[in-house]
Amino acid sequence: MLDTAYHRIIVCSLCRDTVTRLRSGEDLCAELRSRLAGTLASSFAVETVDCMAGCSRPLTVAFNAQGKASYLFGSIDSGTDAGALVEFARLYASLADGWCSSDQRPARLAGKILARIPAGGREQVR
Ligand code: FES
Repeated sequence: MLDTAYHRIIVCSLCRDTVTRLRSGEDLCAELRSRLAGTLASSFAVETVDCMAGCSRPLTVAFNAQGKASYLFGSIDSGTDAGALVEFARLYASLADGWCSSDQRPARLAGKILARIPAGGREQVR
């Protein structure tokens, strides 16, 4: 069952593609909003921010929500990873505390997680 709480997907607007040197954060936001339209649109906001201190692993994307673990992904390809991010969004919305392990996350995101931060005030032992 999907959690209808407010979730955020935050995309860095300043990261530059390592090959093309182009900034692709805005394009990824548009793609995510399009793919989230429908069942997930009401519980996710897609936003940009100028830098999340993951500059050595562009493009960075974060997920957070009140009372849930937060995630920071890096080395996101705006052209090929949008589907995996939406798949992760569906998983994230279904988890009460947002906590999940690598075997639960989309295989395409393996090796792209930079941080998993427990929700405040909760001890996570897994
Ligand atoms: S410029 Fe994107 S994380 Fe710093």
